[in-house]
Amino acid sequence: MSAILFIGGGNMAQAIIGGLVSAGRPGATIQVVDPSANTRQRLAEAFGVQVHADPRSTVAAPLVVWAVKPQSYPQAAADLGDRAAQALHLSVMAGVRSESLAQGTGSARVVRAMPNTPALIGRGISGLFARPAVSGEEREQVAEVLAPTGRLLWVEREDDLDTVTALSGSGPAYVFYFAEALVAAGRDAGLAEDAARELVLANFAGAAALAQARSEPLATLREQVTSKGGTTFAALESMRSDGVAEAISRAAEAARQRAAELGRPAA
Ligand SMILES: NC(=O)c1ccc[n+]([C@@H]2O[C@H](COP(=O)([O-])OP(=O)(O)OC[C@H]3O[C@@H](n4cnc5c(N)ncnc54)[C@H](OP(=O)(O)O)[C@@H]3O)[C@@H](O)[C@H]2O)c1
Repeated sequence: MSAILFIGGGNMAQAIIGGLVSAGRPGATIQVVDPSANTRQRLAEAFGVQVHADPRSTVAAPLVVWAVKPQSYPQAAADLGDRAAQALHLSVMAGVRSESLAQGTGSARVVRAMPNTPALIGRGISGLFARPAVSGEEREQVAEVLAPTGRLLWVEREDDLDTVTALSGSGPAYVFYFAEALVAAGRDAGLAEDAARELVLANFAGAAALAQARSEPLATLREQVTSKGGTTFAALESMRSDGVAEAISRAAEAARQRAAELGRPAA
């Protein structure tokens, strides 16, 4: 089994490594570079992976996974130098363009992934973009590595990853925001906070599962639970007159623009 080198051993790396090891990959085939002695010890104990403080002590691996914070990337790339110029590179870093990875690593074979936090419990969705030099077989290899984090969706233009960021990357926070507001409404109406939280979270999970199980458009599913003059109708009319859909659309566009801005090289 070919080796994998992780640069950064934090939350996202641990979610991927945990999934790979549970799926049967021997920890000894995985090397992780991380500056924190605590993180290295935790990783070695939990997964039996090989840990390194310095990338210069690793052995060459055909696949390198970048999982440091974007601001740590320039230093991490400088530390690795051209040691992985022959490798396939997979980055889960937000806002580091594939061109920057190709330049920093010396390899044209770069895949960028934009995951979201439910990836940490295997329920995420990642948008994926491959540079032209990446083969079909290499795409499959990357898909296998990310499979434990949840669902995958390939996009053909790198700019679409900014939209992925706006919809699903930042998306969990929108769900929490909406859920917080509903829980507060329940509390204001006299329900215990725990009960309101349970109702709201079960509602989100159930409605999402129902929509995934059905092929009807979302609008049809909404209309099916909205009888004219009823309770849902009253709530949706209130949202309509407050311009909630337009506000959500503007919010997503603000996130998309910010993602594009963050990915632009500093002038
Ligand atoms: N968490 C998510 O759900 C999520 C979702 C989408 C995208 N991402 C992306 O995934 C990447 C990692 O996020 P995370 O949440 O896993 O962050 P994290 O938990 O902070 O992990 C990053 C790790 O990299 C280490 N590190 C720092 N500089 C390094 C270097 N030069 N070489 C090697 N390792 C270095 C850090 O060590 P120290 O702590 O000692 O600095 C830390 O252990 C980010 O780029 C983020 O944009 C994460």
